[in-house]
Amino acid sequence: MLSSSKTIRPALAVFAGLLAHAGAQTPATPVKGTPQAPAPKRSLGGGEYPDYDPAAVERGHKLFVTTCAFCHGANAKGGETGPDLLRSVLVLDDENGNKIGQVVLNGRPDKGMPKFSLTPEQISDIATFLHDRIKAAALRGTYQILNIVVGDPKAGEAYFNGAAGCSGCHSVTGDLAHIGSKYDAVGVQQHIVMPREERYGRSRGPVTAPITVTVTMPQGESFNGTLVRIDDFTVSLVDSNGDLRTFTRNGDNPKVEIHDPLKGHIDLLAKYTDSDIHNLTAYLVTLK
Ligand code: HEC
Ligand code: HEC
Repeated sequence: MLSSSKTIRPALAVFAGLLAHAGAQTPATPVKGTPQAPAPKRSLGGGEYPDYDPAAVERGHKLFVTTCAFCHGANAKGGETGPDLLRSVLVLDDENGNKIGQVVLNGRPDKGMPKFSLTPEQISDIATFLHDRIKAAALRGTYQILNIVVGDPKAGEAYFNGAAGCSGCHSVTGDLAHIGSKYDAVGVQQHIVMPREERYGRSRGPVTAPITVTVTMPQGESFNGTLVRIDDFTVSLVDSNGDLRTFTRNGDNPKVEIHDPLKGHIDLLAKYTDSDIHNLTAYLVTLK
């Protein structure tokens, strides 16, 4: 099992960059300080809730699904890594994005929440969407499941077999044959973006496609295995006998070659547009 979060971080940085890229072009003004969560001012009794602008709710909904749903779940009720935002005191206490914006613009990198450069309007739309969800939950006791499948499956298919080069490593009649039954739409999208089970340094079971490493000594003797950790000074691997081996590094001595089976995915993160991911998701969910 891979226990180093080092190798995961660059991917997250690109991932966050990708998502931020999907949003605003203008760099956001950083808001200083960690927001404290004060006690909620509102009761959940209903009645006190304003009527939110449906157009803003819709824009916020779209942004949320593309930018936040990976972690907070498509319905904002919490996902694999992010908390339920409809029960968040901070969100309850937010007014028009003032609290949510601080978290979104600064992130909480040490806790797994990347920062995003979104405009004040985009943050306000997301906030409006979240408040509308809370209102709906409070008034009806129900949550609507959002439709994440907003892409064009035909375009996704073309991209899969063409420019993206997915078909170079995958087959829709082979390894991805029933991907649409294996995961829900959010899961499919998540696996396109971040296929490795272990994300953001949080271990969640075995890694299916581990990073391997070859360490070649100056005399020519070489060692292969699953990469455990690497930094400027040491590299550790677990060999086929299950033995942990650690080598001291001194520049190129010994020679270290890293093979990441998911490198293709990580490289693609820099290429995707938002609509590419939507289209791919729309295509792959049809593979039942
Ligand atoms: C890569 C995963 C990830 C993404 C993407 C993400 N978040 Fe988060 N978010 C987290 C995690 C993890 C936390 C919890 C941080 C902590 O424990 O303090 C969090 C916390 C928050 C909080 C604070 C909740 C509270 O009660 O303290 C808000 C608000 C929030 N996220 C909003 C958003 C919004 C809006 C987006 C999209 C623009 C987004 N997040 C995208 C992972 C993510
Ligand atoms: C360089 C090779 C390579 C390329 C290119 C590639 N992938 Fe992958 N992909 C992998 C590997 C390796 C895995 C992990 C397989 C495993 O965990 O067993 C994976 C996993 C996945 C998974 C999760 C499968 C599952 O059952 O959990 C999905 C979905 C996926 N890839 C979609 C795509 C899409 C869509 C593209 C094109 C945009 C793509 N991949 C391009 C190598 C690649």
